[in-house]
Amino acid sequence: MSAAPFVWGAGTAAFQIEGATTADGRGESIWDRFAATDGKVVGGDTGEPACEHYYRWADDLDLMRDLKIQGYRFSISWPRIQADGRGPANSKGLDFYRRLAEGLRERGIAPMATLYHWDLPQALQDEGGWASRDVVDRYAEYARLVLDRLDGVVDDWVTHNEPWVTSFLGYAYGTKAPGLHDWPSALRAAHHALLAHGVVVREFRESGRAGRIGITLDLTVAKAASTETADREAALRLDGHHNRWFLDALLRGGYPADMVDFYEQRVGPLDAIRAGDLETIAQPVDFLGVNFYRPNLVTADDDSVLLLREVPQDREQTSMGWPIVPEALTDLLVRVKRDYGDVPLVITENGAAFDDLLDGDAVDDELRVGYLREHIAAIDRARAQGVDVRGYYVWSLLDNFEWECGYDKRFGIVYVDYGTQRRIPKRSALWYRDLITSRNGA
Ligand code: FCB
Repeated sequence: MSAAPFVWGAGTAAFQIEGATTADGRGESIWDRFAATDGKVVGGDTGEPACEHYYRWADDLDLMRDLKIQGYRFSISWPRIQADGRGPANSKGLDFYRRLAEGLRERGIAPMATLYHWDLPQALQDEGGWASRDVVDRYAEYARLVLDRLDGVVDDWVTHNEPWVTSFLGYAYGTKAPGLHDWPSALRAAHHALLAHGVVVREFRESGRAGRIGITLDLTVAKAASTETADREAALRLDGHHNRWFLDALLRGGYPADMVDFYEQRVGPLDAIRAGDLETIAQPVDFLGVNFYRPNLVTADDDSVLLLREVPQDREQTSMGWPIVPEALTDLLVRVKRDYGDVPLVITENGAAFDDLLDGDAVDDELRVGYLREHIAAIDRARAQGVDVRGYYVWSLLDNFEWECGYDKRFGIVYVDYGTQRRIPKRSALWYRDLITSRNGA
């Protein structure tokens, strides 16, 4: 195993837990708008009240300390910092995150902050959002405000959470905000998200800031449903679309040629890419964040843009309907090292939703314990093969607003009773606490 220190953490995201969507000058985000639109989110759920973390943050930090959590990944809500996505900072927004980061440090928990976890100011969406190149300057301005104010109190910065989701689920599949169905826009959005990342990483280096900076990708393992050539090509295409498009740009400085050809034929010219962009995107990162939930099994299908569709896997499933395949995580990590070299990896998300039952003061979520145990063992196996993994952040600390699924899907290791806002550590939280203790030799 690698000798580098390993952080056992937990993660959340601003829109999913904070609530307080109009407090202290916060502006509207694309998720406020999306959730307020009929039929977009299960049950008509919105960002209110979520976990009221904006008010209850100190108790939540105490809870983390009691659970022995060593690192906390949270995200910063852009519309709390700039209500309309431009101009001077709202100091109340910045102060909230400064207090949060300091509160973590006081409790011995290392802060990891994500600059963008999907809550774009709606005012920027009205100008085209990530599909418009202007967003790159806006994001750089926003990042500067945050990095200045939180300088020295945040150890790790994540520029983007899952740019694949931002761009393709947001602009092509429309299942997430802003809910569009336009492939050319999705490809522009993906490029601008990556470019914005590169601009901010470059500035971070040039200004000699303290801490580390990286990006989080949701990576998958794309498997063919059969040995037929068409299915194998479909798996390669999904890998190109979901993984290599981002990994190659970030770590090799170029988009994969097979996918450039494919998109140009199926979608149209890649008109967002300009000379010099790829050099900017490929700034060296201190770590690559990997979010992993499940692999995808695919078959060729003429009826979709990517000419493929997912088929069911013969495995146990979580309540999201996602197959539980821990060994795929070992394969993924080993593959990233093999194909992209020794960039330090951090598992910035991994976890599962199950139909938890609150029974008195307890939630006996043995399925989640099993999921976590097996995925952590899969990481151990990758580390034993020399993959440099530096940390694991369970998704999620708290049950929360699971995007288009609303409050229906519970990913927390801590149960949230939304009526009373009571937090109840599930069995998985206690198991995780004990794992952290034993891994640290205490
Ligand atoms: C990831 C998101 C995170 C959460 C989990 C279940 O894609 O980054 O916010 O919704 O999925």
